[in-house]
Amino acid sequence: MNVILLGPPGAGKGTQAAHICEKFNIPQISTGDMLRAAVNSGSPVGVEAKKTIDAGNLVPDDLIIALVKDRIQLPDCHNGYLLDGFPRTINQANALKLEGIRIDYCVEVKVPDDDIVVRMSGRRVHLSSGRTYHVKFNPPQESGKDDITGGELIQRVDDKEDIVRGRLKIYHKQTEPLVKYYQNDSEKPETGTKFIAINGVGTLEEVKERISTALVS
Ligand code: C5P
Ligand code: MG
Repeated sequence: MNVILLGPPGAGKGTQAAHICEKFNIPQISTGDMLRAAVNSGSPVGVEAKKTIDAGNLVPDDLIIALVKDRIQLPDCHNGYLLDGFPRTINQANALKLEGIRIDYCVEVKVPDDDIVVRMSGRRVHLSSGRTYHVKFNPPQESGKDDITGGELIQRVDDKEDIVRGRLKIYHKQTEPLVKYYQNDSEKPETGTKFIAINGVGTLEEVKERISTALVS
């Protein structure tokens, strides 16, 4: 089972991904988390990517495509995988096709821009695990601390409002065309792809329920 989660930054992809992964017993491949891990480790990829990420821009297609290709070779992907935050461009989607990778579901999580800006300002992350919280909508048990490890929660530099607005612009220009792309695939039975659009406005529980219902029908 190969699943793509599509949607603007802050749509709740990461949070919902965890439920889908549990349901289908597949790993969550978050390219954003992988890039942040590379930045933290100071690897050559991380050094190259840091400025781009902090500015809210997209890293070059060939860099991220190589990263994903390597990742999906690992043994935990034998059942399939969920791609969270990839593909972000038509080029990246074409790269998956060139590899002969079949996408069973493309799930678009739809959230209006103004809601996103409100959400992002309250988002806090535990960097080493990728777990995310929201100070109001999904608070940790203890303020500023990760529920599982007790580690520090931070606000991502690229979650500040002006950067978020820029990331939304890039989303609409470069990533949103993938909605049409996968809708088209969904109309061709030979691709095996089913496109599903989900309303991402509401509580985490409500959105989880919508996705869960859509993925069995
Ligand atoms: O997916 P997420 O929002 O966590 O990604 C954070 C940042 O990482 C993006 O704004 C972008 O700079 C970079 N990124 C990218 N290409 C991807 C995934 C993430 O350039 N496929
Ligand atoms: Mg994410």
